[in-house]
Amino acid sequence: MPHPAALVLAFFAVVLAPHAAPGAAAAPTAPARTEFQPGQVWRDGGGQPINAHGGGVLSHQGLFYWYGTHKIEGLSEAQHADGGVHAYASHDLMNWQDLGLVLPIDAPPSRDLTPGVNFDRPKVVYNSTTRRFVLFFKLYLRGHGTRVGFVGVATATGPAGPFVYQHKFLGGGSPEGTGDFAIFQDSDGTLYHLAVRKPDKALVVGKMQDDYLLPAGPYEVAAGITRATEAPAVLKRDGRYWLLASGSTGWAPNAARSFSASSLFGPWVDHGNPCEGVNPHNGLGPELTYGGQSTFILSLPGPTATHLAFFDINKPDHPYESLHVWLPISFETGRMTIPWRDQWSLGALPPATD
Ligand code: DGJ
Repeated sequence: MPHPAALVLAFFAVVLAPHAAPGAAAAPTAPARTEFQPGQVWRDGGGQPINAHGGGVLSHQGLFYWYGTHKIEGLSEAQHADGGVHAYASHDLMNWQDLGLVLPIDAPPSRDLTPGVNFDRPKVVYNSTTRRFVLFFKLYLRGHGTRVGFVGVATATGPAGPFVYQHKFLGGGSPEGTGDFAIFQDSDGTLYHLAVRKPDKALVVGKMQDDYLLPAGPYEVAAGITRATEAPAVLKRDGRYWLLASGSTGWAPNAARSFSASSLFGPWVDHGNPCEGVNPHNGLGPELTYGGQSTFILSLPGPTATHLAFFDINKPDHPYESLHVWLPISFETGRMTIPWRDQWSLGALPPATD
């Protein structure tokens, strides 16, 4: 029997595909992809490598939207290769149409989103009360290094943008703000900001306002997480929260880690490294997360939910060539595991067990 998530995606493909996203490229030139191929160049419908790094996916009205940092070809991270938020649309998560830059970095030097900013890890959520799509990103101001880390906020009235920059804030209750973060929308619509506080690298958790635009109040240190933990990504399963994250080694890969808790504030139970197997394209295994670093978890709806872990294989000298690794998360052993797969499809996954 097909996996429930595959049925959901088949429904999207058959019923909703004709409603192309605004701005979607018309005629695909690349052959349709039928499998995920982690760690290999992933091309969009026009045949170009997907340029959306440190990103995440939003599911909205039958289409998926992939948002990530656009890396400027030919530049290195040290030269500030970050060119804004690039978005793509898909009905099956494998074949993506280019929507272009939905938030460009093109403001004059006196403004925040000017070329040369350090701009990372964009994530989008939909607020059904305000009917706004809210985009969050890591923002280090041009010429100010990485000591003080802001969260930038932009909004749009549709998932394909354009997004309009609203403001930046210092999260975590610290005057130096935060580094990496996860934005997690709970089942009741409450939005949480789980972030690495500067300068002590404690993982902190705060609620956002109902309009999602600013933190609602003080943050708490996530209990049970004692090592410097970056690149957080969260899912909820049977009322329990699961956290996937990395260590703290800049752009270089390190070993992933996983935790679970009955509250986002903890106490978090450490379940160790969820990775198993080796990425044959670079020979790297769990000790270096297949060469990647976590960025997001996509939870697909259905009677037995499927959760997909996203990692970036960062190439700081040539960020445009950074690669994507998407793998299904398994809970068969009672803990989170993310085994390597050379290629896979949603239809071939075994039903998720409760
Ligand atoms: C660690 C973060 O996890 C990455 O996304 C990136 O921001 C690097 N730091 C930059 O050094």
